[in-house]
Order: sequence, then structure tokens, then C-alpha cells
Amino acid sequence: MAVTVTTMRKMKEAGDKITWLTAYDYSFAALIDNAGIDAILVGDSLGMVMQGHATPVPVTIEHAAYHTECVARGVNNCMIVGDLPFGSYQVSKEQAYENAVKLMQAGAHTIKLEGGELQVETINFLAERGIAVCAHIGLTPQSVHQLGGFKVQGRGDAAQQLLDDARRVQEAGAFAVVLEAVPAALAAQITEKLTIPTIGIGAGVDCDGQVLVLQDMIGIYPHKSPKFCKNFMTGNQSVADAVSQYIAEVKAGTFPADEHSFK
Ligand code: KIV
Ligand code: NA
Repeated sequence: MAVTVTTMRKMKEAGDKITWLTAYDYSFAALIDNAGIDAILVGDSLGMVMQGHATPVPVTIEHAAYHTECVARGVNNCMIVGDLPFGSYQVSKEQAYENAVKLMQAGAHTIKLEGGELQVETINFLAERGIAVCAHIGLTPQSVHQLGGFKVQGRGDAAQQLLDDARRVQEAGAFAVVLEAVPAALAAQITEKLTIPTIGIGAGVDCDGQVLVLQDMIGIYPHKSPKFCKNFMTGNQSVADAVSQYIAEVKAGTFPADEHSFK
């Protein structure tokens, strides 16, 4: 692992955009790593794009660990972020620790979990015991049935809660926070207030970094992709070129454009 939490923190300070993509297997992981990505997230989006479910809810810690192992064999340079699936960390901070260990033993360098203020105790428990934790706020897909669908979050009165969530996860020791499907102006405000990097997906161009689901960015997911996705295969002859273009556009600040962002 050449890219670390320190690398990402320094990139934020220098104003250099941080690039993440998801991957779930050896070959794509190797290709994406070779293209120069900063992190591969072995997302629980695997429930949708690998397993064909409508949500990430059916993904288990065993599934997540298996895909993390596959990815780890393909990676030499980037950070591997393991994603704790639904039900694998919400019961207690001890449960979260045990399952984070499973992902790290499978090859993850860091882990991600969904939640802001409500996960503060867990983030702190993990962070104090040697685990680098990325929080994930805004649209949290594991709660899709409670949220009533995949919808933009943080509008109106909910904006203050998201600002509080972001601040609290930073204080708890998170090394980064994913902002999903939040208005671009709010994401910019959060990014400015935090010292840890923000990684946006549907959160506008002013986040410190971006992440997309691989199958969305190469246009192979058989369902409609969210507005914030872009098919980088358009105009490219290979997946490697598409990934390189994604990285270049994130670094240049040309992706995401207004058409991929929420007001
Ligand atoms: O599981 C996933 O792919 C994610 C990203 C969309 C942030 O959590
Ligand atoms: Na996820």
C-alpha cells in the first residue's frame, strides 16, 4: 500500500483531488490500480452490481470479505477500503470491531460504515484500536427501505444534521467521509469545514475526492444509473482508457459537472 490515510490528508491540504472507484474482483482491481487510482472501495454495492439484488441489504460480511480478498490479490499501490455490510456493525461497537477485523484480514487497509452521529461511539472505538474508519453520510443505501428510496438527502432542515454528522465523525476519529447524493453547495460547505477528506458521489465537484461504482462508470449495469453517474466508455476503446479518463477528469475538476450534481 503506497496510498495511505496520510497521503489523502496531504492531498486535501494541497488541493489535489482524491480518486476512488469500486471494484469487487482481481482483474478489475489490477486494472484500476495500474491506472493510478488512490483507493478501491469494495463496496456493498456488490449486492446490486455483482449479485443482482435491488439493494445492498442482502450482502453479508462473508460476501464482503470474499470480494475484498479477490481485490487484494490485484492491488499493489492503492488503498483498499472494505465496506461493512448491513447488519455487520449496528448491533454494538464490539460487533463492528470483529467484522472490521474480518475485512482487514481479507486485505482491506481501512473500512467504511454508514452513519454519522449515531455511529460516533463505534467509529471512536475502532479508531482507538488501530482501525482507520471512513464514515458515509447523506444517502446511506443500507437504510433505503427506511429512507423510502434512493433519494437526495440533506435538503432544507436536514442540512444542519448533515453538517453535524460530518463534524462528529471527524471528531470521533474517522479518516474520511463519503457524502452521497447531497446538494453540491452543502457538500462544499462540509468539505470546507472538515480537515479530513470528503469523498463525494452525487455531491458535486467541490468534495476533496470522488467515487463511482465501476459498473456505472463503464456503462454495463443493466438498470438505469443515477443522475450522478457518467459512462466513461463513451469515446474510449478500453476499460483502462475509461478509468484513466475518470481519474483525469476528477483531478481536473471537470467531473462531476453540473448535470451530475444536485442543487
Ligand atoms: O457500496 C458502495 O459502492 C458505496 C459507494 C457508492 C460510496 O458505498
Ligand atoms: Na456501500
